[in-house]
Amino acid sequence: MGGDIKQILAMPGDGTAITVKGWVRTKRESKGVTFLEINDGSTIKNLQVVIDDDKPGVIKAPGDLTTGSSVVVSGMLIQSPGQGQAVEISADRVDVVGTAPVDGYALQKKRHSFEFLREIAHLRARTNSFGAVARVRSAMSYAIHSFFQERGFIYVHTPIITGSDCEGAGEMFQVTTLPIEKPPLINGQVDYSQDFFGKKASLTVSGQLEGETYACALKKIYTFGPTFRAENSNTSRHLAEFWMIEPEMAFCDIHGNMDVAEEFLKYIFRHILEQCPDDMEFFDSRINKGIIDNLQHIVTSEFKRITYTEAVNELVSSGMTFEFPVSWGIDLQSEHEKFLTEKVYRLPVIITDYPKAIKAFYMKVNEDNKTVRAMDILVPRLGEIVGGSERESDHDTLKARILECGLDPDDYWWYLDLRKFGTVPHSGFGLGFERLIQFVTGMQNIRDVIPYPRAVKTLEF
Ligand code: 4AD
Ligand code: MG
Repeated sequence: MGGDIKQILAMPGDGTAITVKGWVRTKRESKGVTFLEINDGSTIKNLQVVIDDDKPGVIKAPGDLTTGSSVVVSGMLIQSPGQGQAVEISADRVDVVGTAPVDGYALQKKRHSFEFLREIAHLRARTNSFGAVARVRSAMSYAIHSFFQERGFIYVHTPIITGSDCEGAGEMFQVTTLPIEKPPLINGQVDYSQDFFGKKASLTVSGQLEGETYACALKKIYTFGPTFRAENSNTSRHLAEFWMIEPEMAFCDIHGNMDVAEEFLKYIFRHILEQCPDDMEFFDSRINKGIIDNLQHIVTSEFKRITYTEAVNELVSSGMTFEFPVSWGIDLQSEHEKFLTEKVYRLPVIITDYPKAIKAFYMKVNEDNKTVRAMDILVPRLGEIVGGSERESDHDTLKARILECGLDPDDYWWYLDLRKFGTVPHSGFGLGFERLIQFVTGMQNIRDVIPYPRAVKTLEF
């Protein structure tokens, strides 16, 4: 029989003949026996292979069995007399498929810093931490689709190249085929009519606007894909290329929106606790102590829901000195968000009704004409993980907001059309996938939860 190590480790050690393919993690020799630890990425656990030196001809070139070499092992799966594993393979044959010379192979058996591993990102998936992150990331992607598909949401693919700025924040990467050293000019300005698309184009910062058009036909949709931001933020929570999940729901106000977001997050946490117990135990013991208890607590608790004004009052009355002083109207910084979630409520917090001046043009304006129906979800350790809102569904109010934000209504004619024909209250949110993985795994730096991070001055591999 062949199979993944994950399956093999769940089998009884009853002498079944087994073939396993993987990479050597370690080799240890003692009293006429050689022990190999083999890993194949299917689980964080290794399979122990025992080679009896009295059985001649098992290995062709024992010297080649170094850390990182790839092997095919055949033998019997038996109960392990040793500690630390239930079963092991008693080898009849070990073939080295590819050698890994000790000299020059960086991943020898010692702990490496995450900073160092970022420099060898093509090899870091072979470590426990990055294997675990990759498996959790995959299981989470599956759970995201399950959650929405089980509830009748339609998965919509929104474009990656766009002509409109969804967030209106101007943090976009331009896409052009014009020669940037000497672009064609017209009246001293770049003549984009000569560019590939005949107009200025960028990588999208969000699929929301296009997603809304589908929600206003199919009622419940979601997107899940890469988005791009040219924010010059060199932090542990920002990437230039990150994945976002954006559900959008017609006939849904901000309260329904918050309910779905909270249910969604809990569903994901529960799924990972159930489906990735070994990886989660690793994160709990090696990366962030107590993270399993923490997630379990969140799954069974209600998120705290407060308004921006209440949050500001809480921060001001706390007597804390923040680097960025707090007053009504400021954008909450991550120190404020962390204080609220870690010190005040010790739970995820949903903050609603932010000042309209600090939020995007598409959010529904409240009756006070000062705040909008925004809702951000903040979590301990990270701060903002979800940004969402009820959308402005009134045509004239939306157009006024577009103008007020210094944008051109002509660029948004199709978005405004939704409010002309069969307009409906609708809401949605965006969840940053990498921040979600950071939260669940406890990994500190967002660059370590995506295979090949793209960030300011970072574009290797
Ligand atoms: O709050 P944001 O900017 O919201 C939107 O893009 C809306 N269009 C979403 C919607 O309503 N459909 O971004 C949403 C989330 C943030 O809460 C954060 O988790 C993540 O995306 N995010 C980033 N993650 C990594 N790196 C960055 N530079 C990020 N910027 C935002
Ligand atoms: Mg936001």
